[in-house]
Order: sequence, then C-alpha cells, then structure tokens
Amino acid sequence: MAKEREKSAAGGEKKLFMGVVWNCAAELKLLLTALLILCSVATLLQFLPSRFTISTSDLRFCISRITTTTTTISTTTAADAAALAALNSSSSSAAHTASHLVVPPPPLPSSPPAVEKDKVLENGVIKRVFNPYGSAAYNFITMGTYRGGLNTFAINGLASKPLHLYSKPTYQCEWVPEPSSNSNSSAAPPPPITTVGYKMLPDWGYGRVYTVVIVNCTFSEPINTDNSGGKLYLLASTSGGGDTKFNTTDRIQVLEEPKGSVDFGVFTSKPKYDYLYCGSSLYGNLSPQRVREWIAYHVRLFGERSHFVIHDAGGVYDEVFEVLKPWMDLGYVTLQDIRDQERFDGYYHNQFMVVNDCLHRYKFMAKWMFFFDVDEFIYVPPKSTIKTTLDSLSEYNQFTIEQMPMNSKLCLTADYGRYYRKWGMEKLVYKDVKKGIRRDRKYAIQPRNVYATGVHMSQNLVGKTNHKTEGKIKYYHYHGSIAQRREPCKTLLNVSETYFDKTPYELDTTMRDIAWAVKKFELKMIGTRLQNTRQ
Ligand SMILES: *[C@@H]1O[C@H](CO)[C@@H](O)[C@H](O)[C@H]1NC(C)=O
Ligand SMILES: *[C@@H]1O[C@H](CO)[C@@H](O)[C@H](O)[C@H]1NC(C)=O
Ligand SMILES: *[C@@H]1O[C@H](CO)[C@@H](O)[C@H](O)[C@H]1NC(C)=O
Ligand SMILES: *[C@@H]1O[C@H](CO)[C@@H](O)[C@H](O)[C@H]1NC(C)=O
Ligand SMILES: *[C@@H]1O[C@H](CO)[C@@H](O)[C@H](O)[C@H]1NC(C)=O
Repeated sequence: MAKEREKSAAGGEKKLFMGVVWNCAAELKLLLTALLILCSVATLLQFLPSRFTISTSDLRFCISRITTTTTTISTTTAADAAALAALNSSSSSAAHTASHLVVPPPPLPSSPPAVEKDKVLENGVIKRVFNPYGSAAYNFITMGTYRGGLNTFAINGLASKPLHLYSKPTYQCEWVPEPSSNSNSSAAPPPPITTVGYKMLPDWGYGRVYTVVIVNCTFSEPINTDNSGGKLYLLASTSGGGDTKFNTTDRIQVLEEPKGSVDFGVFTSKPKYDYLYCGSSLYGNLSPQRVREWIAYHVRLFGERSHFVIHDAGGVYDEVFEVLKPWMDLGYVTLQDIRDQERFDGYYHNQFMVVNDCLHRYKFMAKWMFFFDVDEFIYVPPKSTIKTTLDSLSEYNQFTIEQMPMNSKLCLTADYGRYYRKWGMEKLVYKDVKKGIRRDRKYAIQPRNVYATGVHMSQNLVGKTNHKTEGKIKYYHYHGSIAQRREPCKTLLNVSETYFDKTPYELDTTMRDIAWAVKKFELKMIGTRLQNTRQ
C-alpha cells in the first residue's frame, strides 16, 4: 500500500486511478480483506501529510469498482482468458480446452485484459472501440503427423474454414533435435531447423466450420538420420486473418521421434501389402448383413496381401462390430475409432481428413490404395484378376473406376418368398442404364507418389492418371442399401429391361452369379459364426 501511495504521489492522478483499479482487480479473491485494508487506510489518512490527499469519492469509486468487477469477472473469466490467449501465441489451444477441465488453464499474463473504451476525440467525434472475446474456431486441430521420407513430413488436420477462405494463414515447420544424451555438457545441442510448410486444402470447399488442411513440411536436409530423436513443431500463423491487427502464431508439437525409433528402411523397401483399402467415415444405422457381405467379398477379391482400414464415426455399433471382428482376428481389418472428430463440424464426418490420415499413415505399407465406400463392390471381369488388372495399370499413379449404379429396391420374381435370406449383391440385380449422366467415380493410387487425396480422386500427386479403365475394372454401387435395416426388395420383376421411376433399368446378374463363391469363401475363412447376421 505504501508503495502504491508513493507512486501515485509521483505520477499524479492518472496513475493513482490506474493503480487503485488494478489493485482492486488483483485483490478480488480477497474482497473482504481488501475492504478491510481500505478502511484502515481511510482511517490512517488523517495522519498523513496534506500532499497525500485521497478524496472519499476516490475510495467510493474503488469500492463500487470492486462490486461491479466481481459480478462481471465470474461470467467473463473464460472469455477473457481465451481472448488473452488468442493474443498470445502459444497458449490458445490450452485456453479452449480449459472449460472441459482437461488441461489446466493457461497462466494468466502479467497485465490485465486490455479492454478499451469509447472516447470523445478533440474534434468532437466519438471514437468507437471493438473488444474481441474468445475465439470460436481453433487455429489448428491435429489428427496425425507422418514421416514421408528422409526429409519430409505430412501434418494432417482441420483448421478454421473462414480463416482459409478469406485470408492467407501461413505455416512453418520446425525440427528440434534431441540434445545429445551422452552427457557431454560442453557440446551445444544441434540448432533447430525450420522450413516453410506447404499447405493443401483437399476438400473442394465442402468444409463447414472447419476445413481440412494437409501441411507438407519438406526440409532442405535429411532429418534425424542418426536416429538420435527430436520433435517436429508446426507454427501455424494467422497472418492477419481473423484480426488484422495480429499475426498470431501457435507453436504446436505435432510429432516426437524418440531416440532410435525411426525405421528408415520402410521408405525404400517393398510394401507389406499389395492392396490397402482406406474407408471413409462410417456413420449411421448400418446394416450388419450388408457390411458382412462387403468385407467377405473384398477379402476374397483382394486376397492375402490386402488390408482394410475402417473408420468408425459411430456406424460401427455392436452388431456391425460383430461382422468385422472375425476379419480383424485374421489380420485383414484395422478399425479406427474416429468418433471424437464429430466435435468439429467439417464435411460429412470429416471424411476428407480421415482419408488423408489413412493415406499418410499407411503410405509405405501398400503398393496400391483404394478409396471407395461400403455400399460399393469392385469388380474385375473373369479371365483377369485384381493382380493382372493392376499390373496392367502400373504405369499410372492413379486410375479412376467406373460406376454401375444398382437399384436397391427392385428384385427378381424368382426370389419371391426367399429374398430375405439372399445377400444384397445377389438379389439387387437391376442396373440403372440412363445415358448422358455424369456419375461419381472411385479410384486407386500408388500412395508413395501422392501427397494429399480426396474422396473421388486425388489432385496432389506426381505421375499419370488414367480415367479410361472401362472394361478392366468397375464397381457396383448399391446406393441406399447400406443404411437400410429393412428388407430392401420392394418390387419384384420378371423382365430383363424395364422403366421404373422414369429410369431405364437392365438386368445384370454379374454379382448375383458370384455370390455363392463369396459365401463359400466366407465359410472357409471364418466358419459359420456370422450365419445369423441380421439385415
Ligand atoms: C505469452 O505466453 C508466454 C508463455 O505462455 C509468456 O512467456 C509471454 O510472456 C506471453 N506474452 C504475452 C504478451 O502475454
Ligand atoms: C511433400 O511434397 C514433396 C514435393 O513437393 C514430396 O516430395 C514429398 O514426398 C511430400 N511429403 C509428404 C509427406 O507427402
Ligand atoms: C565432449 O566434447 C569434447 C569437445 O566438445 C570432446 O573433446 C570430448 O571427446 C567429448 N566427450 C564425449 C564423452 O563425447
Ligand atoms: C506471421 O508470422 C509468421 C511467423 O513468424 C511469418 O512466417 C509470417 O510471414 C507472418 N505473416 C505476416 C503477414 O506477416
Ligand atoms: C417369368 O416369365 C417367364 C416368361 O417370360 C415365365 O415363363 C416364368 O414362369 C416367369 N417366372 C416367374 C417366377 O414368374
């Protein structure tokens, strides 16, 4: 108190005002104590020399400040902390999670929030001010960071969409080597290395609050080649987006390579699998029976050197899990629980982020990667196999696959009375043959040459893309059958061609004809455990 008094005496009224207000704020939690002290000060005042006068109105002001700040602070503490953190680079993500009590709140900076007030200028104009509180979308949300070679990494995540749409946030990557561990304190730790992060936005503007960002960090020199370990940081700068007054930079640790952990051999060795399936986000009330058919069909098609990565955004509930479990036990399926991404509003359960995570995570594990959905069935004509087909396309780093749209209501009269026991691919036999419609395609890539990917094709890759794969490979699409728990057969027909809902259909029994072989394969591989699966 005595110190404050001296300061105010030296600095005049303005400083006194600031000092008293700040003092009140600092003493909030000890409100009563503060009041007590103030009262004693008031009592003491009369003994002080006359130049130290404080009018009683000053004191009243201070007391009323205390009461008002108490009420406001309880409602705005979180917002203030977030606003402060947003102004300060390194702690904003901690501030966001503070309300969930996951992370302790960030240390409060040493100065009070800079809340400005309107004021009347000398020329009589009222200068209005704008005070920002909190921030509504994270600067960056990480899903995964993966090494893509000796000197390159991919950081995969979400970022505020308006930030990217209306301004130009920038990224830098920083590698901080682990200090040498052989306790030689005289040797200085190697300096950090930085590079510009090249960002890719693969979701075609479909994002909502968040958009998908892949940051490619390629350094000018090999990183951690002696395997002594280190950490990769992403420096995500708003560069004036969000608030033109600030260039806020969040420094985020995105990867740690402990000493001796990197297997540099994977970048050049033959991949473990020939074919890897990267599934999109699975969501909704999926039919366990349709999923059962899909996985048995594709394990048979792709064979022993294949693997399936399935992403559960809520669709893999217990009954669906049951039909995947036997294949997980055999090592064919990896299930990734991605339900938590639902917190962040992106496009369709953040599927673009999910497929990119899969690309970079498994990049060196497969020669070919396939991207399609669980209501789609890849088909190669008889006389060819998936191997001969892909070998014939090996000069392309990407090819796209033509769609055969199948109606998911029309069935055959011949199946009357027993269609509920038939598999979907067996009983849904009418193909939409309407001409002149641009239909979605699905695709496969050689992942080592791809830097970011999409849902219908990849646009960030080197090498050639082939769209003329008709006659070599196609896929049957049973749109609307996968999230249908009731019997799909609604209309029975006994014709080879028909018009239905103004659309021409043709009978196509290609998949029907191989259903028996798939059932036999399933029985051989996992026995009868799924025989009682429900639609
Ligand atoms: C920003 O935060 C860091 C550490 O959290 C702190 O050392 C620094 O003083 C803060 N800067 C400002 C302007 O508050
Ligand atoms: C980043 O991009 C470069 C080409 O600019 C590429 O060589 C490298 O493989 C990419 N890294 C990753 C991890 O995709
Ligand atoms: C420690 O560093 C010094 C020079 O920096 C070197 O001469 C010495 O051999 C080092 N000792 C060990 C144990 O590495
Ligand atoms: C913002 O800061 C980052 C990191 O220091 C820097 O790379 C970037 O160029 C800055 N942006 C602007 C617009 O100054
Ligand atoms: C289907 O139609 C053919 C004649 O076109 C007929 O011989 C056959 O009995 C019909 N099948 C059923 C199940 O109705």
